[in-house]
Amino acid sequence: MEKDIKEVLFTKEAIQEKVKELGRKISEEYVSKEVIVIGVLKGANIFLGDLVREINIPLSIDFMAVSSYGFSTESSGVVRILKDLDLEIENKHVLIIEDIVDTGLTLKYLTENLKSRKAASLKICTLLDKPLRRKCDLNIDYVGFEIPDEFIVGYGIDFAEKYRNLPFIATLKKEVYE
Ligand code: PRP
Ligand code: MN
Ligand code: MG
Repeated sequence: MEKDIKEVLFTKEAIQEKVKELGRKISEEYVSKEVIVIGVLKGANIFLGDLVREINIPLSIDFMAVSSYGFSTESSGVVRILKDLDLEIENKHVLIIEDIVDTGLTLKYLTENLKSRKAASLKICTLLDKPLRRKCDLNIDYVGFEIPDEFIVGYGIDFAEKYRNLPFIATLKKEVYE
């Protein structure tokens, strides 16, 4: 696994520090609000697990699974819900957790969909943002790191379902994905 890595962009320690900072901000801004954090499977799973342990106010956790890419490597913008929420979000403060925002099409669809369920508020928190790739307007409320348009893996992010368990975020050697 490690032999496929080109360069580590964010070490385990750098990620941990950023996650703590985000957790502190979220704890302050959502204090005395009924909050539901929603992880977008599967990529957000690891970030969510670490982030909620840095949030020191009561919250509920739920997950959604969507398929945006289908069999293609390019996002089509057509998103299917594979697993919907278990919880009702009406009148709750919803915070969507993502590992990475790329074209933005997944979150565009998700936020439109969740808006119709009458949450009290709806915000987005992503660990990584690749603004150069954006294909739609999307307002992101909490961003960990902005990154250039490079192929990355680790800390939940996969290539062909591998590398999610790397504790750091890194670029892959070209020969691995070409
Ligand atoms: C990845 C990533 C985001 C989405 C971002 O998920 O985890 O959810 O793509 O891309 P976009 O901004 O262009 O829509 P993916 O669909 O690969 O599923 P996964 O989380 O299960 O890996
Ligand atoms: Mn994802
Ligand atoms: Mg993926």
